Amino acid sequence: MTPDQTALRQATEREVIIAARGVSKYYGEAPQRVLVLDDITLDLRADEFVALLGPSGSGKSTLLRILAGLSSPSSGEVLVHGAPLVGVNPHVAIVFQSFALYPWLTVQDNVELGLLAWDLPAAERRERALRAIDLIGLDGFETAYPRELSGGMKQRVGLARALVVEPEVLFLDEPFSALDVLVAENLRHELLDLWRARKIFTRSILMVTHNIDEAVQMADRLVILGANPGRVRGELPGLPREEPRPKAEAHARLVDMVYRIMTNPHEEISVLLRGAPSAPPPLAPSAQLYQALPQVSVGELTGFIERLYGLGGREDLYAFARDLQMEADDLLALAQAANLLGFADLEAGDVLLTAAGRRLAEADILEEKVIFREQATIGIALIRQIMRELEAAPEHRIQEDGLLKDLQRSFSVPEARRQLDTAIDWGRYAEVFAYDDEAGEFFLEEDAPAIKA
Ligand SMILES: Nc1ncnc2c1ncn2[C@@H]1O[C@H](COP(=O)(O)OP(=O)(O)OP(=O)(O)O)[C@@H](O)[C@H]1O
Ligand SMILES: [Mg+2]
Repeated sequence: MTPDQTALRQATEREVIIAARGVSKYYGEAPQRVLVLDDITLDLRADEFVALLGPSGSGKSTLLRILAGLSSPSSGEVLVHGAPLVGVNPHVAIVFQSFALYPWLTVQDNVELGLLAWDLPAAERRERALRAIDLIGLDGFETAYPRELSGGMKQRVGLARALVVEPEVLFLDEPFSALDVLVAENLRHELLDLWRARKIFTRSILMVTHNIDEAVQMADRLVILGANPGRVRGELPGLPREEPRPKAEAHARLVDMVYRIMTNPHEEISVLLRGAPSAPPPLAPSAQLYQALPQVSVGELTGFIERLYGLGGREDLYAFARDLQMEADDLLALAQAANLLGFADLEAGDVLLTAAGRRLAEADILEEKVIFREQATIGIALIRQIMRELEAAPEHRIQEDGLLKDLQRSFSVPEARRQLDTAIDWGRYAEVFAYDDEAGEFFLEEDAPAIKA
């Protein structure tokens, strides 16, 4: 057995604290209802730190809410220590990205809020809150108000409020993503140290993150979700916990692998792990009639392509994100948009320009528009559909409602809106149609280019 397999076997022998069994979740009412989570099965075991990764909208926060008992599954069940969960999960405390502090309460009072449900004598509440405040490095700030605190200190309050109940399990929903890079790094280390050295009672941690680097740095296990609907694509063992920290090379390799998985959403993880060249994505299943357009503007996209061109036309996504000081997920969205439009290929964690991508990078402003138009009409089904409908419509005008309805067969209501907005942004730039914001109406301008084929 390899060390990886040994670690995995040891991990799977540990006691399961929380389990999702075939959890599915719909939002909305039939026939508009959208499947957000599809048959999720997941174990959270004692003494493990699990990172949950997945594209925006893959249902990560929804899954946390269900496991915490704040929302109920449409089907399937959550087990806590083997028993079905009813109501709020008493073993869990959650920390959110947004801190969620009460501005009119002091640090001390904000932390005591965590204990509100417990009905403790005031003195004991105070005592416990002070301990949590000490532990998390907020000593001396007890009487401060949130507005007096930096982002990092605010998130310490968020952590203290969660830890004050001494939860068996801690849920973290992108807890560090609103913080400055170094502040986040510092807080990550402190939290890991508190947990690994068992200075807190928490036995297991489940963290949602968009930051692959962070997931690899912290987690014993990485679970990767896919989107539309959210489902578990697979999981990878994290790096062994070594002191002082795992080797940079192993870290980089794992980060690369996760990038590769996330940039190939339609590929089986097992195939990617074998390093086989990625097959073309399978034909969309009937439930998904549209590509998911990443929400990026044309300006960002051309900037991305020009920068990539400047780097020689090929770059490791991970290094690229570092270079641009961007969140991995945002860069991934750009790379996927470039890919849909035929400007870039994604290969083994690298992004590389296609011939069209190079032409775009070399073009002047007017040529850019022409090239973008060609690529958008070839690559983007929604834009083609709008153009086709406009050609056929009387006076070449159509209302957006029909398109939104169509999109809602593949996406939730707000996501359908975002998808259409992205298509509007791209199509307007390409000048393949015009759009009246107030009327929600598409129309063709006199000299709009006709659609081919
Ligand atoms: N209360 C709700 N009603 C209807 N749809 C919802 C609701 N909450 C979430 N959704 C939809 O469910 C999907 C999953 O949302 P969720 O917030 O769980 O995703 P996520 O993976 O956490 O995304 P992100 O990475 O952007 O935080 C999204 O399409 C979202 O629009
Ligand atoms: Mg979320």
